[in-house]
Order: sequence, then C-alpha cells, then structure tokens
Amino acid sequence: MSTMSKIKKVTIKDIQKKFNCEQKITMTTAYDYTMAKIVDASDIDIILVGDSLGMVVQGEKTTLPVEMEHMIYHTKCVSKAAERAHVVADLPFLSYQTSHDDAVKNAGRMLKAGAESIKIEGGEEFADLIWYLHTVGIPVMAHIGIQPQSINTQSGYRIQGKSKVSSDDLFNQAQALEDAGAYAIVLEGVAMEVAKEISETVKIPTIGIGSGPHCTGQVLVSYDMLGATSDFKPKFVRQYMNLFDEGKEAFNQFVTDVNKGSFPSEKESTHRNLVEVKTGTDSKE
Ligand code: KIV
Repeated sequence: MSTMSKIKKVTIKDIQKKFNCEQKITMTTAYDYTMAKIVDASDIDIILVGDSLGMVVQGEKTTLPVEMEHMIYHTKCVSKAAERAHVVADLPFLSYQTSHDDAVKNAGRMLKAGAESIKIEGGEEFADLIWYLHTVGIPVMAHIGIQPQSINTQSGYRIQGKSKVSSDDLFNQAQALEDAGAYAIVLEGVAMEVAKEISETVKIPTIGIGSGPHCTGQVLVSYDMLGATSDFKPKFVRQYMNLFDEGKEAFNQFVTDVNKGSFPSEKESTHRNLVEVKTGTDSKE
C-alpha cells in the first residue's frame, strides 16, 4: 500500500517560509469533521481547534470549563478531515499551568489525537515551558494580549497595550516568546500600534485577532466569520455570510415543504422492486 499522499500538509517550515516571503498567514477555527473539511478545501493555512469551543459548541460563558477530554475529542474529529491545513490545538485552562510534567503529558495527548502543534496562552512566565516542549518535539504557538483563560485576572475582555506600561510589557513578552522557541504568536485584542511594532520586530509570524492590519497573519473564529452567531458581533469580526439567517430560512423552507407535502418528492424516494419468491427460499432485495 502506498503511503504517498498527493496533498501536501502545511508544516511549521511552510508557515515560516510564508513569513520570510512576507506572505500573510491565515487561520480559523474548526471543532468538527465537516467544518474542518470545508476549511481544508479552502486556502486557509491553519485550523485552530480552539478552546473557544467552550462558548460556540458547548454554550458556556467562558473557556474555563473546557477539559482536556473535550479538546482531545474535537482534535480527533478535526484532524481526520485536515489533509492539507496545519492543525494546532489549544491546551485548555489548568492543563499546562500546573507543572511542566502536566504540560508535556497533555500536549503529547493532543499530538497523539492528531494536532501538529499546540497553543498556550501566556507570556514570559511560560518561556521555559515553551523551550522544554520544543525540545521534546512539540511546537508551540504562543498567545498574548487578551487571554480568555485569564478573564478573571484581566477583568474581562479588554484591549491590551493601550498604555505605555502595558504596550512595553506586551513588546517584551513577544520577544521572550520568540527567544523561547515559539513558532508564532497570536495577538488577541492588542492596540494596533503595538501589534505593528511587535510584528515588525519579531522574526516569527504574529497572528492577529482584533489587533489591526499590521500582523503577519489573521485569525477569526469560523462561526463568527460565517455569521452563525446571532448575538455576537464585535467590531473586529468581518462576517462573510449570514449563516444564522440563511440557515434559519433553509430550516423554515424544509418545514413548509414537509407541511405542504412537496418533500420528499418521487425523485427523492425509492420504488419497491417486487421479486418472485420461490416457496421455501428467502426473498432477496
Ligand atoms: O480559542 C480560540 O478560538 C482562540 C482564537 C480566538 C485565537 O484562541
């Protein structure tokens, strides 16, 4: 059996190459096989199995209740579909903050589930850990700015880097993360001037969300950009379709068709095929 696949996987090297050639990098989230199939068929470079699944899949108010078991389940679903795009998976709250051992074990479980790298929230305080993960073969995407797992210490989802102290701090964090061996940094909710300065300084890609146009790449949550979430429309999200309204319309059309008897039609049904049954033998379809 041939092990050669015609489809080429996006690797960390490809991502760095794009960065070196000043090409933008794109990332979106997927949590299940079918959505991952759609993303994989597009030109998006990276699929993030984000812990945002706590909100968009599980209906939680924050990402804090997300467990390793949930992340592993969704990473398995997504990785089966991702023949081309790189798959990065979030390590959820308290799966890596507790010790290096926990972090390596849990990151390893993600890679065994099909992820090709992992993402963790936090800055300089995780530099040693990032280096350690890198040395045991686990590539790390870092994540600073708004850190949803730190909603309680950051007092909500507030834009970071607005003051001099905060922007200097973000700048130093980004440099420390690069030095630690992170292969990319998500900048979430960072003032655009600070995101620009960081992006022009570090030699690894910055992937922005709500951080302006100067990042090396951009990420949006898939359900947000498809307009599936009717009650969440922050200004940094661009909706490329209105899945909520179009989906509702399609469901209502189905109800109408069923009620008036036009669905299913004859074409959507199957005729019986009577065969002669000889006495003493079973009928075969
Ligand atoms: O979990 C997630 O979807 C994320 C993105 C917002 C970057 O971390």
